Amino acid sequence: MHRSIITLIALAAFTATGAIAQNLEVIKERKSLLEQMGKSAKEPGKMMKQEIPFDAATVDAALDTIIANASKLPALFPEDSKSGGKTEALPAIWENKDEFTGRYDKLVADAKAAKANLGDEFAFMEAWPKVAGNCGGCHKKYRVEKK
Ligand code: HEC
Repeated sequence: MHRSIITLIALAAFTATGAIAQNLEVIKERKSLLEQMGKSAKEPGKMMKQEIPFDAATVDAALDTIIANASKLPALFPEDSKSGGKTEALPAIWENKDEFTGRYDKLVADAKAAKANLGDEFAFMEAWPKVAGNCGGCHKKYRVEKK
């Protein structure tokens, strides 16, 4: 009886240490890649709302960033990165890992399709919402809701 309690305490201590030894580096890295995607999506978002004029080169560069970063992101949610480092990642990510990483694959595919079809403002206006729709859809399901 006593022995099992001691084991439990030892286990709890081990788990607590484990929580401290979270993979903070990988959390920092994914946040930074996401931050970059967020920044690059800002101007195309304004172009969508016609707040600034359409500029194909800016959109093209934004799509490049999205493609490059979203390709790296699936690998940046290992089991030891569920908490710590002010992460906003929800546990649902690790319960639906394939569905989650599939969304990054889809984002990459949609961004590539948009890039291939950036002829004019009308093509942009049709393609961009398909790219950006991936962002909000995933955040709703897998990221802590902002207050
Ligand atoms: C497959 C799911 C998924 C997709 C697709 C996705 N995100 Fe996210 N995003 C997340 C998750 C999860 C977090 C929280 C990461 C964390 O805090 O560890 C996040 C966080 C962010 C952040 C905050 C980063 C920080 O500094 O904490 C920004 C900005 C962001 N995403 C922008 C975007 C944009 C822009 C797109 C689309 C071009 C996008 N995301 C697509 C899942 C996704």
